[in-house]
Amino acid sequence: MKGIVLAGGSGTRLHPITLSTSKQLLPVYDKPMIYYPFAVLMMAEIRDVLIISTPDVLPAIQALFGDGSQFGVSVDYAAQTEPRGIADAFLVGERHVRGRPCALVLGDNIFHGPGFGDLLTTARKELDGCALFGRRTDEPSRFAIAGLDAGGTLTSIEEKPAAPLSDWAVTGLYFYDENVVEIAKSISPSARGELEITDVNRVYLGEGTARMVRLDERFAWLDAGTSESLLEAGRFVRSVHREQGVRIACLEEIALHMGFIDADHCHRLGFDMRNSEYGRYVMDAARRWDDSRQG
Ligand code: G1P
Repeated sequence: MKGIVLAGGSGTRLHPITLSTSKQLLPVYDKPMIYYPFAVLMMAEIRDVLIISTPDVLPAIQALFGDGSQFGVSVDYAAQTEPRGIADAFLVGERHVRGRPCALVLGDNIFHGPGFGDLLTTARKELDGCALFGRRTDEPSRFAIAGLDAGGTLTSIEEKPAAPLSDWAVTGLYFYDENVVEIAKSISPSARGELEITDVNRVYLGEGTARMVRLDERFAWLDAGTSESLLEAGRFVRSVHREQGVRIACLEEIALHMGFIDADHCHRLGFDMRNSEYGRYVMDAARRWDDSRQG
């Protein structure tokens, strides 16, 4: 399965912070925001990732990830020259997807929950059409909202509804089969001139092949799109670190646990950042991994 991280947009809700930098590069506690969605793809065992962003921001993102080999992943880049909507990712990324199933994650979505890796692997294995990931929200008018029948089956999806049918938001993580590029090409732009991901999902729904994986209340789903939610997200990541000793979306540690890199390699990555607590955590993660293998 291929992966795409969409890190476009102008981040106007974060002005003036994002006047001179991209939202997805802002820190969420100890790491750039884009690490969090990237981590989700790695946890889904995806090792071939395309990062899409605006031409002015791409060089900075490229400086962060390079070719991805430090994480045992192949990373490519593509520019979205105009804000043409989320589904435009499949037009920009057509050559990358190459008729394969593909996961798309939005560059400002943060997920954390127990057994997330297993849940992603299962959704991948069972993929037949598209898999959406739902989470309850207090602010249904901000997201795509799923209508569900009594048995919990997905019956409708509405983008930012004025009168929401449920409080189940469709999060910014989507798994699609190999037809997604053709479907994205077939939809028309919305009133605001964008290719809406909700319209792509509705095509799958119409074909009876869209399902929603519900993330229960043990799962955190955060968006860091306003200064308030950015701070909240940082506080959440810090509290998980302080209370559980776990750094969410530590890419070096995930690469190690997924078997993409070995412990020596992971230790070296940490050593190169040894002046930061993050770097020392990465070195420790490598040591702990070695110990657990030997013990
Ligand atoms: C986008 C999607 C929306 C989805 C949300 C998740 O909204 O259009 O369907 O629920 O991401 O983060 P945006 O954040 O671009 O307003």
